[in-house]
Amino acid sequence: MKIAIAGTGYVGLVTGVVLAHLGHHVTCVDVDEAKVETMRKGISPIYEPGLEELMAENMSRLTFTTDYASAYRDAEVIYIGVGTPEKKDGSANLSYVNQVIDQIAASLERDCIVVVKSTVPIGTNDKLEQRLRDNLAHPVSVEIASNPEFLSQGTAVKDTLHAARIVLGVESRHAEQVLRQVYAGLDQPIVVTNRRSAEMIKYASNDFLALKISYINEIANLCELLGADIQDVARGMGFDPRIGNKFLNAGIGYGGSCFPKDTKALHWVSSYHDRELKTIKAAIEVNDRQKLLLVKKSHKYYDSLEGKKVAVLGLTFKPETDDLREAPSLVNIPILLDDGAKVYAWDPVGVSNYKRFYPNEITYCQSIEQALQDAELCLIFTEWADVKALKAETFRQLMKTPIVLDGRNCFSLDQFRDTGVVYDSVGRGVVK
Ligand code: UGA
Repeated sequence: MKIAIAGTGYVGLVTGVVLAHLGHHVTCVDVDEAKVETMRKGISPIYEPGLEELMAENMSRLTFTTDYASAYRDAEVIYIGVGTPEKKDGSANLSYVNQVIDQIAASLERDCIVVVKSTVPIGTNDKLEQRLRDNLAHPVSVEIASNPEFLSQGTAVKDTLHAARIVLGVESRHAEQVLRQVYAGLDQPIVVTNRRSAEMIKYASNDFLALKISYINEIANLCELLGADIQDVARGMGFDPRIGNKFLNAGIGYGGSCFPKDTKALHWVSSYHDRELKTIKAAIEVNDRQKLLLVKKSHKYYDSLEGKKVAVLGLTFKPETDDLREAPSLVNIPILLDDGAKVYAWDPVGVSNYKRFYPNEITYCQSIEQALQDAELCLIFTEWADVKALKAETFRQLMKTPIVLDGRNCFSLDQFRDTGVVYDSVGRGVVK
């Protein structure tokens, strides 16, 4: 099929490449000429394992352009995967989506299904369809379908090729049939529902996962006080299939471009309708507090960090991505700097993005060892594989004062017992 994709971020580009892999002819549209030029050379503008390889395999069916009119004109299906960032009040900013809808209306010369993958508030797709139909330049038949995205950054390609489910929010049999045809090459359960339910499935899923994380983080904080071990507690809980063993990793809170934004958006909409989601409000508050856990803990060890060398391992919001959005490092490092700490940071892919915020205030290290050398405190924000592979011995040998505050529970407690390293993780007590 002839498919166009608006937006080449995580959702748009991964969808485009996977659809090309399924045999469709895909044109990816982006406003950024330099980005388009990069993709034409087969280079992915985002760090996503496996994406460039899949791009290379399917380049014959992939086109990248800024010329939206030519891409949309005769597309059978158009996907919208542009951002819906958070506005100051927490609601979703739909200006990019609206702009694409207007461009489609101006360009379309054949009947088409427009698929909204961007996360949009419940009821938005009805309005988008109206806006599209009202502004069509040619007398064609168009329909909007909602097809929310469930991929995670860092595993986006795998998540799309082997998704747990595909949700189709449609208002006609025709739209359902067209989308079933698009996804015919994937063997995944398909949930067909109306558009509003599909929109809600997306928010309710993300917010549930965020809630699960905030819940386990609160339990972890209590475990720490009462002498329980959160990892054993989570394992014990996870065997119950009604609870499940995923997303029970305690840490310094969720970040990224989705959970923080989607919790606030659903909370905003619930408050607007005078049905405030109190559980989601609590999840947001708990997360904001949890993100500052390591800086707070550092005061157990030092009254002031003035002049202290602090090693920071990991800057991104999670491993296998260079994305810094809502990363705990972004709220902690400014506090460390304010306290007068000398910050030595290591991250395998996040440094160039971080330099945009702090070009000179931090020493960026080429290796973990360089960051740890003579450090008086080590803070772990991201569970990169290279961090998890470290030995207690390395901390002890390199650091001036081996105190490790681990925000992602990268190590077993046994690894640090009787090593001379103070190892303080989340929800598990301190080992020395
Ligand atoms: C999330 C969802 O997992 C995807 O299903 C969804 O499609 C995506 O948002 C989206 O809406 O686009 P993502 O933000 O890429 O994906 O990352 P996750 O792997 O879900 O992690 C989010 C945050 O939660 C990270 O900061 C991670 O460290 C944290 N987390 C995750 C925990 O603290 N504990 C856990 O047990 C799991």
